[in-house]
Amino acid sequence: FQPKYLSGKRVLVTAGPTFEALDAVRGLTNLSSGKTGIAIAQAALEAGAQVTLVCGPVCPPFPAVDKLTHIVSASEMFSAVKAEVEGHDIFISVAAVADYRPAECHPSKLKKTVADITLTLVPNPDILQYVANLPNPPFCVGFAAETEAIEQYAAEKRKRKKLPLIVANNAVETIGSNESSLILLDDEGTHYLPKANKNIQARLVMAHIAHLYDKRKGY
Ligand code: C5P
Repeated sequence: FQPKYLSGKRVLVTAGPTFEALDAVRGLTNLSSGKTGIAIAQAALEAGAQVTLVCGPVCPPFPAVDKLTHIVSASEMFSAVKAEVEGHDIFISVAAVADYRPAECHPSKLKKTVADITLTLVPNPDILQYVANLPNPPFCVGFAAETEAIEQYAAEKRKRKKLPLIVANNAVETIGSNESSLILLDDEGTHYLPKANKNIQARLVMAHIAHLYDKRKGY
């Protein structure tokens, strides 16, 4: 039994890594399987929401969301989110967006030389920050994968990005695994979800998001 506590609500989710091309066949990316984001999208569907999923390069299966957009780079994810965000009540930014991209992408394969190669990287836009700063933003939820001082860094991120909720986890423990332990930080305090399957965690996180959303709206 799944309570339909997000019935009539529209939820936008980003998931997976981004891939920042360097040449025709190479690029920079990060270790993200997309499992958490996909589990979150699935949990939002089960809670009765209409779900839009913007997904980086990850393997299927994908949940039967109302709209699924595949993107490759952070710039493409940014464009897709900007195009979709209006009309959504909740934005859950699970994607592991690459912070930097190569300043130029060579159209053909770079040839090997004996000399060192210097890459110039330029920063990518912060998609979550952009959405949180919109004049009438949806309820924004961030994720923070950290390797140390997890709670401290997550709390700083929540403050900096002005988010009602951030979900923190241990990157080393979580990436690629089917299980995670999560820490939820919000205005009510810190909540610990002990290690469990990512689908179970996603349902618990979604229930908490619905609770905070209702509270904010005064329901
Ligand atoms: O600052 P940091 O990247 O660690 O923050 C993580 C949160 O911000 C995640 O929710 C992630 O999806 C989001 N993010 C983003 N765009 C970026 C970098 C991170 O939306 N360029």
